[in-house]
Amino acid sequence: MQTKGIILAGGSGTRLYPMTAVFSKQLQPIYDKPMIYYPMAILMLAGIQDILVISTPEDTPNYEKLLGEGTKWGINLSYKVQTNPGGIAEAFIYGDEFIGNKQVCLILGDNIFYGKLDFLRKAIENNTGGTIFGYSVNNPSSYGVVEFNENWEVISIEEKPKQPKSKYAIPGLYIFTGDVVGIAKNLKPGPRGELEITDVQLEYLKRKKLKVELIGRGIAWLDTGTPENLIEASTFIHAIEKRQGRKIACLEEIALEMNFISREKFIETVIQLPNCSYKDYCLDVIK
Ligand code: G1P
Repeated sequence: MQTKGIILAGGSGTRLYPMTAVFSKQLQPIYDKPMIYYPMAILMLAGIQDILVISTPEDTPNYEKLLGEGTKWGINLSYKVQTNPGGIAEAFIYGDEFIGNKQVCLILGDNIFYGKLDFLRKAIENNTGGTIFGYSVNNPSSYGVVEFNENWEVISIEEKPKQPKSKYAIPGLYIFTGDVVGIAKNLKPGPRGELEITDVQLEYLKRKKLKVELIGRGIAWLDTGTPENLIEASTFIHAIEKRQGRKIACLEEIALEMNFISREKFIETVIQLPNCSYKDYCLDVIK
């Protein structure tokens, strides 16, 4: 089944002010690349080639400038302006036409994952309604939190609970069948006045169509919400890239590895890059 991808890169990024006074959070650097490269890499590595980027009226032109139509990476990128930030679940309303009746994988533009992505590919393949993930963290109250009974069945999902019922946070990576559009359109705003992604999950739970897959410690899921998170994420990426001599989220390399582009197209794209270490790395890839 063809799966579409959405990257939600909205929000005002107030917690990162003044860095976000001029350009948005998901354009901030994580070590050597803009933040949005990382979620883009995840969707591409999951085999998704049709991707919608949703952002604010001010920032959408910047994303278009940065990412273009995606042809250089063998993908098809389109853009949608979110006029008023009304919550994550709004992505499915803005994405209505784009989604059609296809399955969709939504990733938040500020969520960074590192590790073997088999868990995601498998989830995309096996999804029959909604699939979300659970990841053990030491600050669950900053996230959506999922609680299980002793048979690992979901018994509650709560958005940023003051007293979390488990350590399992729900990362900003979700897979839903096409009926998510109708579900999102019927949601009522939650206490923060937004259409909550947790309410979408609860609707699938009610319909007995929600799967929660636990992501183990072999995957790193990093937060980018505060200046401290940003430097930690940058340090993490830097340490691994330096040690391995391989770049994380180099979209040209991923496009080549995924066979989205030919070797010739890769070379054509890379020689147009300005002289920089990113270009040197890409040139090294084909040696
Ligand atoms: C959002 C979701 C939350 C999820 C988190 C992941 O939180 O509402 O359920 O766990 O993303 O990053 P927000 O970005 O609005 O703080």
